[in-house]
Amino acid sequence: MQSNLQCKSTTSPLHVGIIMDGNGRWGERRGLTRTEGHRAGVDAVGRVMTAAPGLNIDTLTMFAFSSDNWKRPRPEVDGMMHLIEHYMTMQAQPFADAGIRLTVIGRRDRLPDATVAAIEKIESVTATGTTLNARLAIDFSGRHALLEAAARAFWSGPFTADTLSAALATGSGYRDIDLLIRTSGEQRLSDFLLWESAYAELWFTQTLWPDFTGENLQQAVDAFRNRNRRFGGLPEAAAAVSSQPAHALP
Ligand code: FPP
Repeated sequence: MQSNLQCKSTTSPLHVGIIMDGNGRWGERRGLTRTEGHRAGVDAVGRVMTAAPGLNIDTLTMFAFSSDNWKRPRPEVDGMMHLIEHYMTMQAQPFADAGIRLTVIGRRDRLPDATVAAIEKIESVTATGTTLNARLAIDFSGRHALLEAAARAFWSGPFTADTLSAALATGSGYRDIDLLIRTSGEQRLSDFLLWESAYAELWFTQTLWPDFTGENLQQAVDAFRNRNRRFGGLPEAAAAVSSQPAHALP
């Protein structure tokens, strides 16, 4: 799997994952419906997509609807599906013009037909975009994705981390997540990209998703740039010392 091995020195483009949390509270605090909170969340999605290429982010995976979100009251689920369908329909041409490639990861067999049609349309219209790989996770469960990929990898040859990783590769721009952001003060993975987040740097903010801006994204990336990613190894200086024979140590 690809990843940015030395965070401080790397100039490689980043894969940023975002768990967009806090839409409901944002709406409720304003005396609005939760669905209106989700609608405001869509504007934040636009701000982040606009800011991402300038921050050397080439892939952005955003959790728009978890497989567990089906448990929510019917009006909220219907509102979210409608919002997703509307968004896909309205954004297809603007994204194509801006060079944004949009793909959707997650199950499609439980989505309304109109939502699936809108997803297929935007994926096809934006397929050649190279400015940003935007991936929306819809009816997505990290555990379910792992189970399905494991079954595919198991039956198609040697079963290794690489073949499992390849079997997980859905949508464009698949690779490990470098930086995982969650808004609204919650600090959990909520069944997002579990395999791909194995060595993700985590960044949390109290900001509710609809208030999230390009500046907030910049803060997260700045924090990431100051982290020392070791992937279970040692920082460079310590690694140089520990690789000397024991008798050479001071
Ligand atoms: C969590 O907030 C957010 C979601 C479950 C969905 C995120 C969806 C969007 C940002 C809108 C859809 C996006 C697109 C691009 C169409 P919550 O409802 O759990 O908020 P709460 O924790 O305050 O209740």
